[in-house]
Amino acid sequence: MPASTYHSVFKDESKLDINYVPRRLVHREAEMRLLAEFFKYLLTAPEKTAQRVLVVGDVGTGKTALTQRFGLDLAQQGKQRGVNLHYIHVNCRQYRGSLFLILHHAVSVFHPNFPKRGFSAEELLNIFLQILDENNAYVLLTLDEFESLIEREGSEAVYKLTRLQEARLGKPQRVSLIGILKSLKAIEGLDASTRSTLQSNIVKLEKYSKEQLVDIINDRVELAFKPLTVPEETVDLIAELASSEGGNARFAIELLWRAGKYADAEDLSVVLPECVRRAVSSVFAITKKSDLAALSLHEKLFLLGIARFFKENADRAYASLTEAEKAYIVVCEEFEVQPHTHTQLWKYLQTLSNLGIVKKSVSAAGQRGRTTLIYLPGVSAHELERELYTFLERGKVSENRRVQ
Ligand SMILES: Nc1ncnc2c1ncn2[C@@H]1O[C@H](COP(=O)(O)OP(=O)(O)O)[C@@H](O)[C@H]1O
Ligand SMILES: [Mg+2]
Repeated sequence: MPASTYHSVFKDESKLDINYVPRRLVHREAEMRLLAEFFKYLLTAPEKTAQRVLVVGDVGTGKTALTQRFGLDLAQQGKQRGVNLHYIHVNCRQYRGSLFLILHHAVSVFHPNFPKRGFSAEELLNIFLQILDENNAYVLLTLDEFESLIEREGSEAVYKLTRLQEARLGKPQRVSLIGILKSLKAIEGLDASTRSTLQSNIVKLEKYSKEQLVDIINDRVELAFKPLTVPEETVDLIAELASSEGGNARFAIELLWRAGKYADAEDLSVVLPECVRRAVSSVFAITKKSDLAALSLHEKLFLLGIARFFKENADRAYASLTEAEKAYIVVCEEFEVQPHTHTQLWKYLQTLSNLGIVKKSVSAAGQRGRTTLIYLPGVSAHELERELYTFLERGKVSENRRVQ
């Protein structure tokens, strides 16, 4: 039975939600000022220039939160000064890196029912600019998880986005860009001129130190928990753990939330360090939740196949790609979708392993040479299957299918 809110340690759980954008970003004042400096013309003479900035940092360094806070505040300031400035934040991976789908999302901000058919990405781009011209509107467009777009569309799409103005001589500039990357490696493959356009303005987010994490956690504790429910010792342990996870604030906040849930479930009036220790064991599933949500349908189905394999073979440490593929085909039958090819699965495996959800290992050279082995680094097969199910309700699958 869920504890009633009367007995809960939480005051406002929504402040711990993955999508909550804090009003203030602790220890990111300098980076915020740098962004403001780069984009200050958007408030004074937006038609004159278009800026491109890269925000770079590891998982949980606050890239998404920082840009969202900055963009929303800037758009607000624009309104106050009579500049029709919009902030659009797109997660490229959520749109599978497709320039078309990303642009469709941007157009939908102005025309919610804009059709998905009948246009190329190039045409959508022109339509987008035309809409902005008609509304005398300016956009700061953030391409979060920019890697995904680069991987899928390559130089040309990025070139188009960074050189929008060249075919529009004499017309006002309309679109400024922020690209969010985990590392600059992703842009190494782009052509030299696109790369140099992008590389000139970089905001680098360093990993948080343990002390900084303490401040970030305390800030959130105040917003989300009732007074005196989260002792210093608990905050300290969470900061320590998140610090060893690469200074990852996302990890810290998810851990804080999960620890609070344990406290409620045990009917405790304070969140004890023991609640944190209990929460840690299931933390993989939580920190990866947004990664799971953003996977494409077939990546999810493939991962579900892998989870099923390990669930049914509890004694196995590794699965071969062939075994994983077989399990995937069974899953596809269950969800009534056509399985993708072996080559595509190979790509999905790459994506999943880049995200750290599964890992690859190579077998010792046996009779049939080396083979790729798959293992689950930090989650039980049961738990992974359960998480995936929350995204793969049957009804949703057919919906996903339409945009495939
Ligand atoms: N400086 C900060 N102050 C307050 N909360 C932060 C700060 N940095 C990150 N967070 C929070 O930590 C979590 C992870 O941040 P996020 O922006 O998603 O990281 P990234 O996009 O770099 O992976 C979010 O819940 C975010 O609100
Ligand atoms: Mg992010």
